[in-house]
Amino acid sequence: MSITNIKEKRSWQEVVKTVKTLNPQKLEIIKATLPIVKDHGEQITKHFYKRMFKQHPELLNIFNQTHQITGHQPKALADAVYGAAANIEDFSQIMPILERIGEKHRSLQIKPEHYPIVGENLLGAIKEVLGDAATPEIIDAWADAYGVIADVFIRMENNMYKTAETMPGGWAGYRNFVVEKKVKESDVITSFYLKPQDGKEIASYIPGQYITVKLEIPGEQYTHLRQYSLSNRPGQNYYRISVKREDPKVDNIPAGIVSTFLHAHVKRGRYDSDYCTCR
Ligand SMILES: Cc1cc2nc3c(=O)[nH]c(=O)nc-3n(C[C@H](O)[C@H](O)[C@H](O)COP(=O)(O)OP(=O)(O)OC[C@H]3O[C@@H](n4cnc5c(N)ncnc54)[C@H](O)[C@@H]3O)c2cc1C
Ligand code: HEM
Repeated sequence: MSITNIKEKRSWQEVVKTVKTLNPQKLEIIKATLPIVKDHGEQITKHFYKRMFKQHPELLNIFNQTHQITGHQPKALADAVYGAAANIEDFSQIMPILERIGEKHRSLQIKPEHYPIVGENLLGAIKEVLGDAATPEIIDAWADAYGVIADVFIRMENNMYKTAETMPGGWAGYRNFVVEKKVKESDVITSFYLKPQDGKEIASYIPGQYITVKLEIPGEQYTHLRQYSLSNRPGQNYYRISVKREDPKVDNIPAGIVSTFLHAHVKRGRYDSDYCTCR
């Protein structure tokens, strides 16, 4: 099992002071086209994901495919793009929201080189969904707006990466952990006690913080990443996560992939090297 480091707070105070600005003509175009982009938001983002995964199937290793099926992620992206564009003259009000998204990105190892891929496909999706209504001037203005928003995320996330790596017990990328103990808390909740395979110090955290677990599950084509809150007292030499097993539900809704795998196959005292990767 390999996990990314805990999230970190207040990475944006400096970033928000130096946000790039859009030129006045482009700003007017963004304001004028916000309603049409909002109305077609989920249609655009659903199309965006199909387009992007076709061109970059490797990204299926980082996106939760269940969220694509349930529509959770296309909606979250549509709301975020609209919210950021609507506040493009002054991000300060929405920085706590952008920070939460940035923390999620950092925990998933989203890097600056990913942003042009998302930008190109988002603009392509806007063009293809809006058709003739998306004139070259409109696309050009949205390309600049995306550039401003992406720059905020990239710089904020860079600060988060630096802190996560340099804090006591911190690390970069994924780090392998051994399941030291597995404790059944109830019929559906099991706790996993995780110790770093390298035996070195681990970063402390404050209550509410989470880690991202990356699993390679036999028979699954792509890796699966999921977040779990740390459920033990901070300042110890292990992390504990308490995972609820997501069983199949009525109407043929399948079981949750990662929670079921953790409950059924990840055993106490065994380092699941067969199922793990390290970065
Ligand atoms: C910050 C954060 C902290 C978290 N902390 C915890 C924690 O401490 N403990 C914990 O247990 N979880 C936690 N979670 C949730 C966790 O990350 C996973 O989402 C959860 O374990 C389910 O993952 P899964 O792979 O088992 O389910 P997935 O495969 O991702 O499925 C998710 C749900 O969708 C259902 N589903 C599957 N297919 C469909 C379909 N076609 N239509 C409709 N529904 C479908 C599944 O039955 C399941 O209930 C946290 C999430 C976040 C973002
Ligand atoms: C301006 C650009 C972007 C915006 C507005 C944005 C917005 C969001 C939002 C709102 C979420 C949901 C956060 C949550 O659930 O708490 C999210 C999650 C995510 N983002 Fe981004 N994002 C952007 C760029 C990127 C890029 C460049 C990548 C990398 C390809 C990326 C990958 C992800 C992934 C993998 C998730 C988790 C989704 C899941 O698996 O369900 N994002 N993003």
